Amino acid sequence: MAPGRARQDQIFRAGISGFRPKVPTDAAGLERAAKRRMSRKAWAYINGGAGEGRTMVNNREALDAVRLTPRVGVDRSVRDLSTTLLGHELDHPVLLAPVGAGALVCDDSDLQIGRAAAATATPYIISNQGSSSLEQIVAAMREVDPAARHWFQLYWSTDEKLVDHLIARAEASGAGALVVTLDTTVLGWRPQDLNLGSLPFARGQGIAQYLSDSRFLDIVRERLAHRDGSGTGPGGVTVTPAAVASLMSIVRHHPGRTLRNLLAPEPRAAVETFLDIYSNPGLAWDLLGTLKERTTLPVVFKGILHPEDALRAISVGADALIVSNHGGRQVDGAVASLDALREIRGAVGEDFPLLFDSGIRSGRDVAVARSCGADAVLLGRPHMYGLAVAGQRGVEEVIGNVLAELDLTLALI
Ligand code: GLV
Repeated sequence: MAPGRARQDQIFRAGISGFRPKVPTDAAGLERAAKRRMSRKAWAYINGGAGEGRTMVNNREALDAVRLTPRVGVDRSVRDLSTTLLGHELDHPVLLAPVGAGALVCDDSDLQIGRAAAATATPYIISNQGSSSLEQIVAAMREVDPAARHWFQLYWSTDEKLVDHLIARAEASGAGALVVTLDTTVLGWRPQDLNLGSLPFARGQGIAQYLSDSRFLDIVRERLAHRDGSGTGPGGVTVTPAAVASLMSIVRHHPGRTLRNLLAPEPRAAVETFLDIYSNPGLAWDLLGTLKERTTLPVVFKGILHPEDALRAISVGADALIVSNHGGRQVDGAVASLDALREIRGAVGEDFPLLFDSGIRSGRDVAVARSCGADAVLLGRPHMYGLAVAGQRGVEEVIGNVLAELDLTLALI
């Protein structure tokens, strides 16, 4: 049975016995349910955006403004959601976006998301800011489906050796592509986090790829060795109950035993090191141009909004692009991703692989993005909301609902 009918069937049959879906099937209901289950800090980070939130509004307005004109009198009894991307056959055109600091929702967030992705044949773009190591996430996915697909998202650090290490790990893990995020060379101004004084990474959440990397740990050790001892103290932090809670969080997220971590300088030094080298504001096209010699993986640049940047990215070897404004998290009042998509599709021609994210909430949105030139889309916040509501099953249901609505929308238009 096609995914739309199958999902309706499943829900309505359960309804006969009085069961209702735990995960709301509409975007607004899902968001409300997730908010009720998340801490204030988790909600601020995941739901929040840059500045006054104008870009998030722009993203939605552009998607909402599209009107679909259903056509009738055509046989739609067989529908095919499959697509080919970077040489791989995919069952459908939806991938899970990389979302950092999922530990804000639960410690094993990325493992649960990875399992859900594998169970629904959805490629998972594993975040450089993940809360479990790349290798652990891939292992969890392969337990569900040995053929599960993942890509790796890279933030270009200021340490070139670390960049090479992360690339090598992505290759060794069997990633289908390397996704380099270009729009976050610094973090945007995010009042929801700022007003709570909350940065998950500073509490050791979302830095598992670094803590599992031998080059990163070498940098931490080098930095500690060159300190005169003063840097191993609280480092200007006023000791309050919140500071103790942050320290406990850092210690808990650091590999090794909690008691040892509590007494050792490495966990705090690792967080400080991360904050210093996390992203590279000097990232420019000449440096990006070195990537093709540094990896055998297909290279995907994420965060492209201008047609000239799209052409430049292709000239330095991009195999695909992700048109994205980072879900409105970076620049307030930025162009809607969908408007950028139309222009970029015009500039790169029909055949160049373009993915799209920022604002996608439903299967109807996926159909709209496809109609505006996207070959595939990334689902971001909604899968985090599914995780918050019902863990792995919640993520599976969100994906299932999106695909069901996509299938039914195609059947009807
Ligand atoms: C990082 O990717 C962020 O958006 O916080």
